[in-house]
Amino acid sequence: MQILLGIPGGIAAYKSADLARLLANQGHRVRCILTEAGARFITPLTLSSLTAEPCYGANPDQGEWRANPSIEHIELARWAELVAVVPATADIIGKAANGLASDLLSTVLLATRAPILWAPAMNTGMWAHPAVQANLARLRSFDHAVVDPDDGILACGEEGSGKLAQVASIAEAILMHGTPKLRGLAGRRVLLTAGPTREDLDPVRTLTNRSTGTMGIELARAFRDAGAEVQLVLGGELPAPWGVETVRVRSAQEMLAACEARWAGADGLVGAAAVADQRPELVAPEKVKKGDGPETLILVRTPDILATLSAVRRPGQWILGFAAESQDHLAHAAAKLQKKGLDAVLVNDIQDGRAFGAQVNTLTPVTAQGPQAAIGPLPKAELARAVVEWWGHRLEAQKNGQ
Ligand SMILES: Cc1cc2nc3c(=O)[nH]c(=O)nc-3n(C[C@H](O)[C@H](O)[C@H](O)COP(=O)(O)O)c2cc1C
Repeated sequence: MQILLGIPGGIAAYKSADLARLLANQGHRVRCILTEAGARFITPLTLSSLTAEPCYGANPDQGEWRANPSIEHIELARWAELVAVVPATADIIGKAANGLASDLLSTVLLATRAPILWAPAMNTGMWAHPAVQANLARLRSFDHAVVDPDDGILACGEEGSGKLAQVASIAEAILMHGTPKLRGLAGRRVLLTAGPTREDLDPVRTLTNRSTGTMGIELARAFRDAGAEVQLVLGGELPAPWGVETVRVRSAQEMLAACEARWAGADGLVGAAAVADQRPELVAPEKVKKGDGPETLILVRTPDILATLSAVRRPGQWILGFAAESQDHLAHAAAKLQKKGLDAVLVNDIQDGRAFGAQVNTLTPVTAQGPQAAIGPLPKAELARAVVEWWGHRLEAQKNGQ
């Protein structure tokens, strides 16, 4: 994505350097515009070094100054696929809310057709002031996105609301608002399971698997960015993604219950969790002591979440399953597709330790038409976006009767 990052004169301006670096490291192109006040907090050299792109401003101290400044704002406004203002000061918020164009950043904000996102940061009193809140309400009415500040101790020593949101959350919000929406998915409710399940043996031991949940969490982000309303039912320890309603679960039974409560209201289900197929028959209330001879653990089947939900699906609801197979992966995926009545199974070939914990992976979709072109190898975040794009286009084609 081509991201234009406006940096006004707030004390949190140094955090924008981190944000610029984070986005550039994720493969996005980031160009910065410093306001005159912004350039007193952070230098153009820092920003251009971190982004490997020019930094712009109203005079040479604030960034590169082109020969024809009169059209620079239009070039930048067209270049941007999203404009983010971080940290958004009360001043720039007020200017933009009232259509003022008194410097490069405020002019670009008026000229651009790209989505605009604000991450305000200011003293608690300023943040609470009705003038600032009215200006923000006006920006929201223009369809601008606002990442609200956090509560905490501010640079001025006061405690309250006004602290810049976490850089990682702002980066996620930028991706969410800047990614083009897929017509097959925009506004649709997607229920997604991710991560491992854990089946307890006793108060200290548990039966689980090597899934971390990374792929499922990336899928949740990718569906979110494509415009879907995602509900994530998550096992494991990884933090929940920003902007996604997440329910944490432990066992397969808990995962099923969480899904059953939400399935009727969903348009589609993505089963990316690595659900344990078995659980111990009995959960010991106290820690099991070691015995002298061989020990036997009796396992029983856990509920089959996909099959259970598939059996009660209503017309129009779709289901994507995932499979991790170490042999005959395409044949197993085709059998799973049929047995559970799914629309597609995306299969991982887990030979040689691929998939679990790996950063790069390949998925092959198998549908009623047979195996489709493999997606990947790609890093998991990109793989998730490619899968969502593939599925979004398929849903749209289905809707158009192709
Ligand atoms: C040390 C210092 C810290 C400031 N921090 C903030 C801030 O966090 N938020 C804010 O809205 N204004 C802050 N200001 C005030 C702005 O710098 C001032 O309103 C300026 O005109 C903003 O211009 P700009 O929006 O064009 O960058 C601060 C000023 C100073 C001197």
